[in-house]
Amino acid sequence: MLVYAPPHPLIKHWLALLRSEYTPPQMFRSACAELGRLLIYEAVRDFLPTIEQQVQTPLGAVADATLCDPTKPIKVVPILRAGLVLLEQAGQVMPFQETYHVGYVRDPKTLQATAYLNKLPAKVSPDDLFLITDPMLATGGTIVQVIEDIVSRGGKAENIRVVAVVVAPPALKKLADRFPGLKVYTAMIDEQVDERGYIIPGLGDAGDRAYG
Ligand code: PRP
Repeated sequence: MLVYAPPHPLIKHWLALLRSEYTPPQMFRSACAELGRLLIYEAVRDFLPTIEQQVQTPLGAVADATLCDPTKPIKVVPILRAGLVLLEQAGQVMPFQETYHVGYVRDPKTLQATAYLNKLPAKVSPDDLFLITDPMLATGGTIVQVIEDIVSRGGKAENIRVVAVVVAPPALKKLADRFPGLKVYTAMIDEQVDERGYIIPGLGDAGDRAYG
């Protein structure tokens, strides 16, 4: 499994704002959206299907052109709540996309994730490309359930990419064991998950920080 944290000062900047306890909700949401834009840009670099065509320029010349393929939009899956903020600007990165919302909430005691919303397509082709957004992969319970659900509908883990703000070792181990072909794009691999299920140093509860 590939885990890539792009070494870019803008990514570090927005991550710093997200980590700071003094960042208010509105700024937290815009920093998360900016970070999402940059991480999605990296995640789709060799993932977006393209077509080769020719276009005529205003000078009457013809130029070879590469365009995103409108017939193969990436299926974007935000994990509510905070995954929604992370893909707010995805539409500005990718000209074509389809969005399939899923909602999961963790039990604060058992840390078991339960789905309360699932808009995934009933049937998925193995060739369909998925991009899942979730700010935090902590124990990994949530993301594993979402990927298993996509795979159970016909999807292939090799065609799924995950964008997350911070990720922790327990989640990465679970994902690598189950889905070796998966690719994860993140701002930072953090050190640990505490007994309450929070990533340390992390950024707190992203859903609460974004929406209060
Ligand atoms: C948080 C986070 C992830 C999940 C990660 O969501 O946004 O979805 O927990 O935890 P895990 O890797 O241990 O499963 P939460 O359940 O707090 O919901 P929220 O986004 O609505 O706040």
